[in-house]
Amino acid sequence: MEFEFSKRSEKIQEGIFAALDHKKTELLAAGRKVYNFSVGTPDFSPQPHIMKAMAEAAMDPENYKYALTDREELLSAMQGFYQKRFGVELEQDEIMSLYGSQEGMAHIAIALCDPGDVVLVPNPGYPVFSLGPELVGAEIETYPLYAENNFLPDFEDIPEETARKARFMIVSYPANPVCSVADDAFYERLTAFARKYQIIVLHDNAYSDIVYGGKEGKSFLSYPGAKEVGIEFYSLSKSYNMTGLRISFAVGNREIIRQFRKVRSQIDYGTSLLVQKAAVAALTGPQEAVKEQCREYERRNHALCGGLRKIGWEVPDSQGTMFVWAPLPGKYKDSSRFVMELMEKTGMIVTPGSAFGDLGEGYVRMALVHPVPVIEEAVEAVRQSGILG
Ligand SMILES: Cc1ncc(COP(=O)(O)O)c(C=O)c1O
Repeated sequence: MEFEFSKRSEKIQEGIFAALDHKKTELLAAGRKVYNFSVGTPDFSPQPHIMKAMAEAAMDPENYKYALTDREELLSAMQGFYQKRFGVELEQDEIMSLYGSQEGMAHIAIALCDPGDVVLVPNPGYPVFSLGPELVGAEIETYPLYAENNFLPDFEDIPEETARKARFMIVSYPANPVCSVADDAFYERLTAFARKYQIIVLHDNAYSDIVYGGKEGKSFLSYPGAKEVGIEFYSLSKSYNMTGLRISFAVGNREIIRQFRKVRSQIDYGTSLLVQKAAVAALTGPQEAVKEQCREYERRNHALCGGLRKIGWEVPDSQGTMFVWAPLPGKYKDSSRFVMELMEKTGMIVTPGSAFGDLGEGYVRMALVHPVPVIEEAVEAVRQSGILG
């Protein structure tokens, strides 16, 4: 039988990641050393108290049943955490758990827009920001992020007509892949823009615990008026090294949360009770390891960017996230071609900027997922390869 699949699903591309993986297998088979800087999976372990909570929960058969709802202890752990960490007061009906922000991003548009509605997303941006709305037939309008503006949107760049039509806008700082951090004035402009044009804001706060230079990551909801215009996703994946457990939260405007909860109630049966227990341990337990981990990312950031600059590749330090956003060196213009050549000549695997939108062309993204000595080895491999000319 010949299958005909939906046009929407046909538009989804595996793209460059499949090609990178293929090439990596080839290099490994040839006995080459590979330095994989392409994946955003932390190499750190979860804290022992989180694993212990999960292990204990795993011995109780009750925890294998459908959860159906977020347990009170989870909601109150999140309330306490947002209060303590960000100074943000949340009511319990302003909180819901998700199977990770990725899943939340893939489904939120079902609650917020109809086919043909306009959604504003960043370019370059994290791919599911546009894929989620596209899956419900929304019309994607990108807003550009330029290095000259610290990769923050200039609201003047968004045409009045587009702003009037927009249903919601996805914003995310510290930003993957561009690695910039937004200042207070930006969030004030964002809330004013959203109010003026009646646009819902969805702030993805996946990296608020990985900010460099002694600054503290904040919550969008800590700015006046934010809760009236939107919600925020806060993920436990990177802060607590729980990527595989799949838990994050949507928090903020209660009407949006209510509508989204209604949609998700028909899609899932609630976040696993085992995972809820682990999340409670993470949110209520000691937080020093989160800070120490940020310091380790910062050491890696300096080792990678500083090391590359020393050998002639002008890579600016990352301001936040677990990534580095590097302009292509020297004569290179095509990020996919450069990535393949870098891999072939050095064994270093990075992600081409073009995977994040056309304005990502001319850059590559590197994940800080190796300790400093491995980073130094990779930098040395780049130097020896002569790829920098
Ligand atoms: C900006 C951003 N949002 C969301 C996610 C995914 O988070 P989660 O693991 O909660 O789905 C990532 C993961 O790389 C990310 O970079």
